[in-house]
Amino acid sequence: MPAPRIGILTAGGDCAGLNAVIRGIVCAAGHRGMEVVGFAEGYEGLLNPQTAQVLQVEGTRGIEAEGGTIIGSTNKGRFQLRRGPDGSSNLPDSLVRAARTALEQQRCSAIAVMGGDGSLRTALHLSRAGLRVIGVPKTIDNDLESTDVTFGFDTAVARVAEAVQNLRTTAESHRRAIILEVMGRHTGWLALHGAVAGGADAALIPEIPFDADLLSRFVKDTERRGQRSAVIVVAEGARAKAGRQMRRQTGSGENRLGGIGGYVESLVARTGRETRCAVLGHLQRGGSPTAFDRVLGQQFGVRAVELCSDGMFGRMVSYRFGSVTDVALADAVNRRRSVSPDSQILRHAKALGLFLGD
Ligand code: F6P
Repeated sequence: MPAPRIGILTAGGDCAGLNAVIRGIVCAAGHRGMEVVGFAEGYEGLLNPQTAQVLQVEGTRGIEAEGGTIIGSTNKGRFQLRRGPDGSSNLPDSLVRAARTALEQQRCSAIAVMGGDGSLRTALHLSRAGLRVIGVPKTIDNDLESTDVTFGFDTAVARVAEAVQNLRTTAESHRRAIILEVMGRHTGWLALHGAVAGGADAALIPEIPFDADLLSRFVKDTERRGQRSAVIVVAEGARAKAGRQMRRQTGSGENRLGGIGGYVESLVARTGRETRCAVLGHLQRGGSPTAFDRVLGQQFGVRAVELCSDGMFGRMVSYRFGSVTDVALADAVNRRRSVSPDSQILRHAKALGLFLGD
């Protein structure tokens, strides 16, 4: 009899730790006499099942330390849920049928999806349509409910912290203020943790629209106190109290978040302090994962296989209170986890003297 098979795919924007999860799944499945089939380029791979490949333990040796995903991903594609006129999210039945057929063709009894909120909402939709689905929480934004941490976050925080430290030396040399724009569309976990880890002076996040006058006063105060430099981390989704999120048109005609760093630069420059802005961009998502993300990713992979073996579908692997566990997929994607006023990291950042825009 052929070995039972699990399908896997990586969906949405990449981040460090995807390959660690893949390695964890492949090893744990091999241990249980199961095979793993990798569908290529995210959900799109379900429309091209002939491109799927069986992943071997030997072939994945060492990938836990590599960035990106060996099976490819996309944050575009046809599997994004569409909002209907009544506000409900939907996926055409033809895509659900195609997904089911792809799994049958590859003899996969279930599929594990590594993704962020959008990709896991699609996973939930497929699960409700009767497919056997397991979710694995991925995002550098760390904004998923029901898990204390997503894989990729720790690495991104380390990248932000390193950038803050590097910018500090230039800011100190030239008596400048430097603004660092980081990712974080809706939530400021990455900006806050990165600012604290790197020793920045301020963090501006989407959850706290910032007061432009207070920002100017804060920058002037740093000079008055004799500080040679000021480093301000701003999340791409942050906005001024009186303003809205800033967007820019890309060459390909897409309308993307971006530009808030430059705007903050112009506000700070008005104080008379020489000011520069750096945009960290995709450096936060790429490259080798931290040891924490390598361990967490592989553990998440092992748990995903356990859930498949135990027939616990419609679940998402999760990390709670120091242990890897699992929760209902529906609970994880229902609501976004934002930085609330009573968040510990927010209170502690304030206690450490960071300016938070209010
Ligand atoms: O979800 C992570 C994220 O990095 C956002 O913070 C950012 O706006 C987006 O993805 C960028 O994705 P892309 O790879 O399409 O530029």
